[in-house]
Amino acid sequence: MNYFKEILHYARPYRRYGALNILCNVFFALFGALSFISLIPMLDVLFDKTMQVTTIPEWTGILDLMTYIKSYMGWYITTQVDHKEQALIIVIALVLTLFFLKNLFGYLGMYYIAYLRNGVLRDIRNDLYAKIVHLPISYFSEKRKGDVIARTSADVLQIQNSFLSILELIVKEPLNIIFSLGLMIVISPKLTVFMLLFLPVSGFLISRLGKKLKKRSGQVQQEQGYFMSLLEETLGGLKVIKGFNAEERLENSFQQSTNRLYRFAVKLNHRKGLASPVSEFLGILVIGILLWYGGRLVIVENVIDGTTFIGFMLLAYGILTPAKALSKASYQVKEGNAAAQRILEILKTDNEIEDQPEAIDVTAFAKAIQLDKVTFAYKDEPVLKDFSLNIPKGSSVALVGQSGSGKSTIANLLTRFYDVEDGTISIDGQPIKEVSLKSLRDQMALVTQDSILFNDTIATNVALSNKDASEESIIDALKIANAWEFVKDLPDGIHTNIGDSGNKLSGGQKQRLSIARAVLKNAPILILDEATSALDTESERLVQDALEKVMKNRTSIVIAHRLSTIQNADMIVVMKKGRIVEQGTHIELMAKNGLYHGLVGMQSLG
Ligand SMILES: Nc1ncnc2c1ncn2[C@@H]1O[C@H](COP(=O)(O)OP(=O)(O)OP(=O)(O)O)[C@@H](O)[C@H]1O
Ligand SMILES: [Mg+2]
Repeated sequence: MNYFKEILHYARPYRRYGALNILCNVFFALFGALSFISLIPMLDVLFDKTMQVTTIPEWTGILDLMTYIKSYMGWYITTQVDHKEQALIIVIALVLTLFFLKNLFGYLGMYYIAYLRNGVLRDIRNDLYAKIVHLPISYFSEKRKGDVIARTSADVLQIQNSFLSILELIVKEPLNIIFSLGLMIVISPKLTVFMLLFLPVSGFLISRLGKKLKKRSGQVQQEQGYFMSLLEETLGGLKVIKGFNAEERLENSFQQSTNRLYRFAVKLNHRKGLASPVSEFLGILVIGILLWYGGRLVIVENVIDGTTFIGFMLLAYGILTPAKALSKASYQVKEGNAAAQRILEILKTDNEIEDQPEAIDVTAFAKAIQLDKVTFAYKDEPVLKDFSLNIPKGSSVALVGQSGSGKSTIANLLTRFYDVEDGTISIDGQPIKEVSLKSLRDQMALVTQDSILFNDTIATNVALSNKDASEESIIDALKIANAWEFVKDLPDGIHTNIGDSGNKLSGGQKQRLSIARAVLKNAPILILDEATSALDTESERLVQDALEKVMKNRTSIVIAHRLSTIQNADMIVVMKKGRIVEQGTHIELMAKNGLYHGLVGMQSLG
């Protein structure tokens, strides 16, 4: 129930529609109840039991409502109508009108609540998305992507199916019951009280059945997240799956997942399936008892008319439907709770990498970036140990070293995708933890180790940092990145769509787009993580020349395996297992005849 409350917050902006819905439902319930008792005069006419009344009856209070209606109808039919057929038509018209009004208001109620239901969904999804975009990268290395997808899609839908449909029921059905009960009391207080005695018993039995539902429902939703992950991974890895003949293996794990889902869902459906039949049977049991008790009142004690009794029974049966709906709703709350819990889990995650309350904006980069005794671990094993490095403005620093030595990690820390554990990273003497994330990242343009592109046009991909960038500036950036030569030949030029993650392009083409994107951002600090690794020697040289031009007035951190590309760097940092082993210019390091010298030697041989 507590999750329900939190989700209810989302309904606040739409409370106007909620109010309209309630209003319509009041009328719906009122006309619903009236439409049942309007059948009584019709039955009277049919069975020729209409009272002969010649004077207009007097109103004697709500408790005599039934008598009043009957004698009024009697008076009308006796004095105003020529023959019975006409009377029949009139009462049928009355019945039809009341049913029409009931359904009209029923529709209007749904009409208004649609805005609330879908508005709440939209807002939850938007909040989830905003949260996902803002959560730190580390959050997602622990999570399966598919699980996050399932929460944003399937679980939010579940909220709609359970909580929001309940919102409707919670108003409509009780009103229905109240109006019907009111009329039943008017018709026969004795019978009504008799019936009410049985209701709590049914309610208790039904709530017992709802136990365990939340757990089952949670299992189903979790499994859905898992198989969504599998699907997502499969679609991304089709080439490898086919190339390594792993179809069967993946099919197996998918089937295992769907089998688990099958078992959980069957159990869940069995539980849920019990709700309707049990409550209907309990209801009809009550009706049966009523028929016996009320039937005796009609036949033996003669205190109620046969037709009035039928009207009463119709009302009693009419209560069954809302009562059934309400008992089903109690199930749905439990299901919805499981979904809400999963959604709120994301929404309430603390963001570890967030602006401090008094975060400073860095407006310009003036002096240097400094890493001071930085220690960092993704998990337990430290990846960087006591790492210190000074990067003065305008210099180019190259990070080289064996795979896994922590080069990309430094890029991750500079951009604050992760926060350092020990030591500080500062920009112009200001620890980056005290700087606002946006202003820090505004100072940097990043080319990641694997090109990250979106299913959109080349222009949109390149102009990610500035959606108002002119076509000329995009083309200029493409030219600098040596990408224009292939883009200009594409059918739609820079407006060509490049497919999912850019899969319509070659590896080198993708890489050149990522570079163009960084060039267009025109930030003072450039971070290139293996930016040219996928290029052939010829293109690499061209891009390298261009990059060097771009890097001239900028500060750059270049990570590279191919050492020929970083020979001109102002400083080369040779890393090994998270530590600096050598540091200096190409000439100094060559003279040193150490690790760097060895690496260069091996590469020239190759
Ligand atoms: N998200 C992560 N979670 C846990 N460990 C990680 C994560 N990313 C990297 N590592 C580990 O951190 C270490 C350094 O990784 P890093 O990516 O910085 O290496 P690198 O020097 O860039 O290597 P390469 O030259 O192969 O790109 C590796 O041992 C790697 O296993
Ligand atoms: Mg790397």
